[in-house]
Amino acid sequence: MMNNGPIIQTTNLSRSFGDILAVDRISVSINPGEVFGLLGPNGAGKTTTVRMLAALLEPTSGEAYVAGFQIGKEDQKIRRQIGYLPEAPGLYDALTAEQNLAFFGAMYGVEEISRQIKRYLEMLGLWNRRYEPVATFSKGMRQKLAIARALLHEPEVLFLDEPTSGLDPQAARLVRKFIAELSGEGRTIILCTHNLDEADRLCDRVAVVNGHLLALDSPKILRRKIFGRKVVFHLLEAKIDFEQVLLAFDFVSEVHLVENKILVSVEDPENNNPALIRALIEAGAEIQFVGELRRRLEDVYLELMKSAEGINNG
Ligand SMILES: Nc1ncnc2c1ncn2[C@@H]1O[C@H](COP(=O)(O)OP(=O)(O)O)[C@@H](O)[C@H]1O
Ligand SMILES: [Mg+2]
Repeated sequence: MMNNGPIIQTTNLSRSFGDILAVDRISVSINPGEVFGLLGPNGAGKTTTVRMLAALLEPTSGEAYVAGFQIGKEDQKIRRQIGYLPEAPGLYDALTAEQNLAFFGAMYGVEEISRQIKRYLEMLGLWNRRYEPVATFSKGMRQKLAIARALLHEPEVLFLDEPTSGLDPQAARLVRKFIAELSGEGRTIILCTHNLDEADRLCDRVAVVNGHLLALDSPKILRRKIFGRKVVFHLLEAKIDFEQVLLAFDFVSEVHLVENKILVSVEDPENNNPALIRALIEAGAEIQFVGELRRRLEDVYLELMKSAEGINNG
């Protein structure tokens, strides 16, 4: 176990399947306790990356350390430190909740299995339903049970491969809440997802990949890097003169008028806004609201994909 430094570290981690380079020289460091998102289109290598880190698939080149152990060399030790929810986790419908957990617990040699089963069934609110077949559970509950199954041996690191895909909004919400709870317990969670709002809400940092690493940062910083920061002034009436008033400031790089709103690109809204507000009022503006234009992580993602395509197409 490592006390300091990253819990996962990869250096030029790569994997090909024949001619397909599924994962192309990925180098990342993931900190203990982090919720780390892996985002990217279908076929971007997310599952392949996670399977390598879970010591289920060997890299073709590069290296990685997970919880202090090197993949390919100390795989048994790694498997003890990690939990893995695959894309299609598959529970046994005919077995009860308890039997499902007991079956996997036995298979993986979990210690104090009864206590662990109780702990997780209680955490999921399923203790009273432990003798019911899993077939009777909602989709969200089943997925939570599948995650709990990956946690029976109390791994430090949890890999979740698209845990909410195919779930309805209510079920997805249950699962997200559970993930947040698990993160609150200090676990490191690697989350592959297509749901960018989900990544935005849950992840401390996200890696956007498409074979190779396109971007890596917190959602907040990624937004700023890609779009800068924009302030929106809602006015009783947006007059064209106001544009010049705002552009006179060095820290204003762009101004757009849209209906009764003015969008202003500024370097440092917290410090720059008071001066802008004063100037607008002096120029006769009637300010109704001031806010920051919030870009969705989806916009960041699409922008990254667009520029990546631009590069690939020459
Ligand atoms: N076992 C495999 N055999 C051959 N090709 C594979 C295998 N696993 C993945 N691939 C290929 O590797 C690429 C990355 O796949 P994957 O890691 O599943 O992407 P993602 O999870 O981001 O959708 C895809 O082109 C996929 O077809
Ligand atoms: Mg996948």
